[in-house]
Amino acid sequence: MASDITMDKLVALCKQRGFIFPGSEIYGGLANSWDYGPLGVELKNNLKQAWWKIFVHERLDMVGLDAAILMNPRVWEASGHISSFTDPLVDCKACHQRFRGDKLLEDKLGVDAVAGIKLEEVQPRMMAEAIACPACKKIDWTEAKRFNLMFKTKQGVVDGEGADIYLRPETAQGIFVNFKNVVQSQLMRLPFGIAQIGKSFRNEITPGNFTFRTREFEQMEIEYFFDPEATEWKGLFEDWKKSTMAFMSETVGIHADKLRFRDHAADELSHYSRGTTDIEFAFPWGWGELCAAAAYRTDFDLTQHAQFSGENLQYTDPDDNKRKITPHVIEPSFGLDRTLLALLLSSYSEEKAPTADGGEDVRVVMKFPYRLAPVKIAILPLSKKDELTSISLPLAQKLAKRWRVDHHSSQSIGKRYRRQDEVGTPFCVTVDFDTITDNAVTVRDRDTMKQERIAIADLESYFSSKL
Ligand code: GAP
Repeated sequence: MASDITMDKLVALCKQRGFIFPGSEIYGGLANSWDYGPLGVELKNNLKQAWWKIFVHERLDMVGLDAAILMNPRVWEASGHISSFTDPLVDCKACHQRFRGDKLLEDKLGVDAVAGIKLEEVQPRMMAEAIACPACKKIDWTEAKRFNLMFKTKQGVVDGEGADIYLRPETAQGIFVNFKNVVQSQLMRLPFGIAQIGKSFRNEITPGNFTFRTREFEQMEIEYFFDPEATEWKGLFEDWKKSTMAFMSETVGIHADKLRFRDHAADELSHYSRGTTDIEFAFPWGWGELCAAAAYRTDFDLTQHAQFSGENLQYTDPDDNKRKITPHVIEPSFGLDRTLLALLLSSYSEEKAPTADGGEDVRVVMKFPYRLAPVKIAILPLSKKDELTSISLPLAQKLAKRWRVDHHSSQSIGKRYRRQDEVGTPFCVTVDFDTITDNAVTVRDRDTMKQERIAIADLESYFSSKL
């Protein structure tokens, strides 16, 4: 059965089942802010752990880092974010609402038609394409102006005083400023990478589409340093494209039909990049950027930080002490929230399922890869009676030492199965009155709905082989 997922359906399911709630909801919310609920946080942690295992622990050429969000403001001068991290802002002259001009054009013409558009071209093109204000429907736009996306605040305890300081707009700079510390403390030899997972903040002009574009989000970034004389960047770039795509298709489990690469046009590239390829996902509203599969940042960042800080950030060739180089960098950059959104969308499935009275019903199943599922096993005693819960509770506690387990005894078993399907629990274990005498339970498979009787004594090894 086709799985016709709309954003409305997904947002409703996420709230109802505890994946994602509207931020500050009891105060009427805060536009475009979202809180991850009990299941959302499990899903997020599982994604982070899988990413860290694949890109850090399973590779001998990678190490991790967790740098501070607040950094010396000179970092953002050096990185170019103060001068160049801007989006084209247009005002509607009729209702004075503000929008990102390039995004309004993209919504009508598609990403490719707008890629690389110059600031001065935005307003004339909007007028020519008769782009109406989403708020008041008039077609009357100001010239586009540059709007810096960094959140600025003050550091210090005296009101109105203190130095300007920024919330980081990318985790990458924490890696560059620690390059020397990592080389000196870890004895790393080129090529090697530094990975980091953490929050980033951007004062987006047009956030929206649920968690796709928000002002506070989490990134998982890698800076992979190499000697440009020893390694050709294009080969490395292709290797990273393959690795990021493999993560999206094999680990996140997104079907190949829903993923594609998109190369940035030369005039679309960020100020630091000589080549960038995104991975796009087929969102319900069309193709959109999922992550940056690889960006070739050259030696831009290390050179800038060396110049602005006065520190020597060169790397000494261990085979030739006289040879000092500034390494070049390939950067794969993942958005954690966006990856999680794509995971939710691609896992959503609607299927025909039999009802207890012999009829037919539609069940919603989140077909998460087992590794990412927020809850792995649900233990469901058929009744709340002590005879059953005295077996089911200790069983749940035993299995919870190895896997995330739910234990629920209320509602009909049919309703409890449906709930577990909707949160994507791979296995339900029913403890029934026969269990008292045969010491066995019924294990139901989420995807096939097939049930099998397994001895309690064999349950742990059964799940070890499956999960
Ligand atoms: N260090 C490079 C960098 O930050 P980017 O393309 O601006 O590159 C990388 O961001 C990824 O971070 C994006 O592909 C997306 O997944 C995520 N991302 C960026 N801005 C976001 C936002 N406002 N909300 C949610 N995710 C965002």
